[in-house]
Amino acid sequence: MPAGTDVESIKRLLAEHQQEHLIGFWPQLDPNHREGLLAQIRELDFPAIDEWVESLVKGRPQPPVQHDFEPARSYSPQARSTQDQHKYAQAIELGTQLISHGKAAALTVAGGQGTRLGFDGPKGNFPISPIHRKTLFRIFAETIAAVSQRYGATCPWYIMTSPLNHEQTLAIFKADNYYGLDPRNVFIFQQGTLPNFGLDGRILLAEKDQIARSPDGHGGCIRALARSGALADMNKRGIQYLTYWQVDNPLVRLFDPLFIGLHALDGAQMSSKAVIKNGPKEKVGNFCLVDGKVTVIEYSDLPDELAERHRPDGSLVFQLGSIAIHIINTDFVEHLNTAGHSLPLHRAVKKIPHIDSQGRPIEPEEPNGVKLESFIFDAIPLAQRSIILEIVRSEQFAPVKNATGEDSAEATHRMMIERAAAWLESAGVKVPRKPDRSPDCVLEIAPSFALDAEEVAAKRDQIPPINPGDDAYLA
Ligand code: UTP
Repeated sequence: MPAGTDVESIKRLLAEHQQEHLIGFWPQLDPNHREGLLAQIRELDFPAIDEWVESLVKGRPQPPVQHDFEPARSYSPQARSTQDQHKYAQAIELGTQLISHGKAAALTVAGGQGTRLGFDGPKGNFPISPIHRKTLFRIFAETIAAVSQRYGATCPWYIMTSPLNHEQTLAIFKADNYYGLDPRNVFIFQQGTLPNFGLDGRILLAEKDQIARSPDGHGGCIRALARSGALADMNKRGIQYLTYWQVDNPLVRLFDPLFIGLHALDGAQMSSKAVIKNGPKEKVGNFCLVDGKVTVIEYSDLPDELAERHRPDGSLVFQLGSIAIHIINTDFVEHLNTAGHSLPLHRAVKKIPHIDSQGRPIEPEEPNGVKLESFIFDAIPLAQRSIILEIVRSEQFAPVKNATGEDSAEATHRMMIERAAAWLESAGVKVPRKPDRSPDCVLEIAPSFALDAEEVAAKRDQIPPINPGDDAYLA
């Protein structure tokens, strides 16, 4: 809608699209607020909104065709055959070269609302490390610094925020002095937002002059990378590969030469790491092949009959779970933007605070509306080629999602200690364990000390004995 369109024609337009309530408080607004509201309305894409209301808000989207998908194939964590050993060695060499030559950068998506965790502030500021209570952001920053040092390269870090947490995230990075990183190599950019809908299809108002909006999902990074200038910055630096992860996983192995190398050797455009699911209905996406393309089918869309199917050796047929760790080529991001691809939107029924027709604030106790989001994994089938590398869960995946129980901070915490114990034991260090075999000590390995088990082994002689009940911090 062109700027300057007069109020009468906006009223007519809103009425045509059953959204006239958006200017229901017009007489009560002062000129500034009126102008602000009009600007928000002018940005709305009404034909698209009508379609979303029809298919996603009032309607139920159909799950994908259910008969013609098969499980995707993956590289295993360790090379099994001699041929594979040769390929993995070649991949590690190529990956190492690409990182050393500054061809790879880090991309964290951190624009989410983190409602399940219920933490006040950006999730990246959540303190998670077992002894020093380092925040997620700090752990990633220290890892990036250690990777830069290991490979003698600049490893830029791109972080996607949303309007809900952008200013706070910037303030945290400034207050923490960018955790010792050079701020010129940290690019914090914002994703877009989409309007929120009531279940009747009407756009909700957050205030009398404010449309209720929420971030457009992690898939929003494809567009936001281009719009924010991040992609242009990457091109200027000659970056070709993005190592993508979510802000909630402190175990992630960033700049993994094997992963980058396999991806590059196979000429892939977007690739993924996977874990073996811990049950047929684990709440992770399933890597499948649909029309020959790697595709993630959400756990809720995988028919039970397929989810429960087993191989003769007892393993699940659909065993590869998506953990939102990818390599994405910068030219693929560029292609998606210039070829006009848009990722599909998904609906999430949520509790959305808003004002009612009388202007009274409503804090719903039950889900009352729909948020729309795009998911990064929907870009995978758009890639000409895509590989999957299976990884060992306890080594690389422990997301903090919930306040308690599964995927809680406590569970992540435990996994961080377990991984440190495993690295130490593989280096021949004795770790005291309780009768139930859990470590009888608290362990934390700083990224500056070691990024993997091999580095712990190389520093074996710097590690003091660990006694039952110790807090052992290695830095
Ligand atoms: P989640 O799906 O876990 O959502 O996001 P969330 O918003 O963090 O948490 P809940 O569901 O409200 O409890 C997975 C990752 O994607 C990022 C999150 O920051 C997290 O790293 N994300 C999610 C975005 O960057 N933008 C979004 O719009 C949504």
